[in-house]
Amino acid sequence: MRRLMLLGPPGAGKGTQAAYLAERYGVRHISTGDILREAKAAGTPLGLLAKGYMDRGELVPDEVVIGLVKERLAQPDIRERGFLLDGFPRTVAQAEALDRLLEELGMPLEAVLNLRVDPELLARRLTLRRSCPACGAVYHLENRPPKVEGVCDICGGALVQRPDDAEETVRNRLAVYSRQTEPLIAYYTGRGLLVEIDGEQPIEAVRQAIVEVLEPAGR
Ligand code: AP5
Ligand code: MG
Ligand code: ZN
Repeated sequence: MRRLMLLGPPGAGKGTQAAYLAERYGVRHISTGDILREAKAAGTPLGLLAKGYMDRGELVPDEVVIGLVKERLAQPDIRERGFLLDGFPRTVAQAEALDRLLEELGMPLEAVLNLRVDPELLARRLTLRRSCPACGAVYHLENRPPKVEGVCDICGGALVQRPDDAEETVRNRLAVYSRQTEPLIAYYTGRGLLVEIDGEQPIEAVRQAIVEVLEPAGR
């Protein structure tokens, strides 16, 4: 039962790789961004609170996000299937809270996969990304175009551009990342959990690099 985390800046490919890894290892994909976007679309109090922060590319307050993850990790399927965190934690306070939660659950992290990508490339990935709000599939106009323009290959839903993928907001998200999230690289290096993955390779090569780390030959 795997207990994994994908770390990396906006656009690094966390969601893209998470979809594959969740299938390969049967783990539960926990994306705080997806949870918050669903709440936003449903117009719940959580969604209304999160909207302003998300649309500006700022982080939603720690206590709100920590509460969400705490609730999700406590569900029984996590113990059976394990987890893959994507987009959480994003601050040192969140990482410390996660350590406590996982200790209480007796489910320590196994590895933190840090997807490294140059900021110039990130901006390009984000502004050309298209997503399917219905099933969560992620496309890219150049790197991973859908078979039919504007239509999801998987569910036939209409593809949209995330509001926070507008150029101005992308710049802010990248700045927020360097300020608040990048320190987690040192945090997890210090705990002996960090594994560097070259996220600039094509999608399949990144996938292969991760699998090689998680399934070392001869193990
Ligand atoms: P969140 O949804 O987590 O967004 P993010 O971290 O900014 O990351 P993205 O989802 O944009 O990128 P990704 O790494 O998943 O890349 P993807 O695979 O899509 O968070 C959104 C907002 O929610 C935050 O700004 C904040 O407001 C709030 N929030 C969420 N979690 C929070 C938390 N813990 N605390 C506080 N607030 C929180 O790929 C990107 C594009 O590149 C796609 O088009 C894809 O097709 C393409 N691509 C992927 N891999 C490759 C590759 N190897 N080569 C070429 N193209 C590729
Ligand atoms: Mg994502
Ligand atoms: Zn879809």
